[in-house]
Amino acid sequence: MKFSLFIVTLLLLSACDIDGSMRANSKDGSAVDARVIAAKSGCMGCHAVSNSVYGPAWKLVSQRYLDVPDAKEQLIYHIRTGSAGRWDHVTGGRRMPPQKGAISDVELAIVVDYIMALAAPKPAQAAATVESEPPVETH
Ligand code: HEC
Repeated sequence: MKFSLFIVTLLLLSACDIDGSMRANSKDGSAVDARVIAAKSGCMGCHAVSNSVYGPAWKLVSQRYLDVPDAKEQLIYHIRTGSAGRWDHVTGGRRMPPQKGAISDVELAIVVDYIMALAAPKPAQAAATVESEPPVETH
């Protein structure tokens, strides 16, 4: 029993680590969650991480820009000024209005870092393992 608790604790700790990689320090030094920022900025009204809703799934975006050297700059620019035509094969031709007023530069950089990390092989696999295999209690 004690051993299984130890395992559960380990799993929880590793889940926190994964979560930690999605966090970044804001200007005042406090840890902020990219997903909270994205939600409060209205991004999640059109986007989801794994599914294409109104806009493309952020995992797809992450995969597409994986090998693009200036991906961060490009994505920030496209989000601030709006985007059309890049995801027609997924959205059927919908466009993203400029998000400049919806999110600050600092917070947008945090969200874009988070999106770009989604397809990075290691964290994604680790997260999938933790999510799909909940700890089994051995008695
Ligand atoms: C009104 C709906 C809507 C909102 C709100 C919205 N998006 Fe989008 N987003 C879209 C659509 C539609 C596309 C696909 C545009 C295209 O085909 O070029 C897109 C594309 C994107 C892309 C891919 C851009 C590229 O260069 O390939 C990213 C990243 C993104 N959105 C992030 C965000 C973030 C972050 C926010 C919040 C600040 C946000 N979106 C808010 C609808 C939206």
